[in-house]
Amino acid sequence: HGDFNQKIDYVFKVVLIGDSAVGKSQLLARFARNEFSLDSKATIGVEFQTKTLAIDHKTVKAQIWDTAGQERLRVDYGFSEGKGKAKGKLIDLAEDDATTRYIRNITGQVYYTFLCYVPSFLAKPTSRLVKTPACQFCRYRAVTSAYYRGAVGAMLVYDMTKRQSFDHMARWLEELRGHADKNIVIMLIGNKCDLGSLRAVPTEDAQEFAERENLCFMETSALEATNVESAFMTVLKEIY
Ligand code: GTP
Ligand code: MG
Repeated sequence: HGDFNQKIDYVFKVVLIGDSAVGKSQLLARFARNEFSLDSKATIGVEFQTKTLAIDHKTVKAQIWDTAGQERLRVDYGFSEGKGKAKGKLIDLAEDDATTRYIRNITGQVYYTFLCYVPSFLAKPTSRLVKTPACQFCRYRAVTSAYYRGAVGAMLVYDMTKRQSFDHMARWLEELRGHADKNIVIMLIGNKCDLGSLRAVPTEDAQEFAERENLCFMETSALEATNVESAFMTVLKEIY
C-alpha cells in the first residue's frame, strides 16, 4: 500500500455538525472516498474517516468525525406494577416524531424504554421524559465533550433547501463554542446546492451570518461533488 510507510507530520481532527439529514455523512463520503449515496441512513453514534493529503510539502492526516444530527438516547427504567401482565411483550404505547415509547413486562417488572430523538442543542429532555434517571443526561454530555475534544476544525452544515436547518446554526455554533478549543477553525456549509430550485436560504443570509460570526462559508453539493474538496481543504489549510 502506497502510503504505508508515509511519515505523518500532522493529524487534524475535524468535526461535522448540523441537523439530521443535511448531508454530513455524504459530504464525508464524498471527501474521503469520492462516494455518494442517495439512500444514506441516519448516523447512529459516532464514526470517523481519515484522508491523508499534502499541504505545503507536509503530510497531513485529516481525521473527520461524523455523528448523528439528532442524538438517540436510550433509557430503561423499571418498577414493579400489577403482576400477571403479558410477559416480555413489547407494546407500542405511543408514537410521535419526538418520542417512541414502549412498555415491556419482564418477570413482573414493568420497564419503560424511551428512544428519544433530541437535537444536542436542546439542553435537556422534555419534562415528559424527565422521570428518567439523571445519569441519562450526564452520559449524553460525556459523549458530546468527547466528540469535540481535540478538534481543530469544524464543519457546520445546513441544508439550503431547509430553512430550519439554517436557523439552527446559531445553536450548533453555541454548542461548538461551549465545548471546543477557542481557536477552532469553523466553516459554515450550505449543502445540496444541486437543488437550486428548492433553495430556502439565500446565499446572502448565510454570508451575513458567517461574517458576523467570523466563519468561512461555502455552498456545496455532495451529490455533484461541488466545492466538497475545496471546503475541506480550506479548513485544513487554515488549521495548518
Ligand atoms: P444524520 O446522520 O441523521 O445526522 O444526517 P446527515 O446529515 O449525515 O445526512 P446524510 O448525509 O445521511 O444525507 C441525508 C440525505 O440527503 C440522503 O438522502 C442523502 O443522499 C441526501 N444528500 C446528502 N447530500 C446531498 C446533496 O448534496 N444533494 C442532494 N440532492 N442530496 C443530498
Ligand atoms: Mg449522518
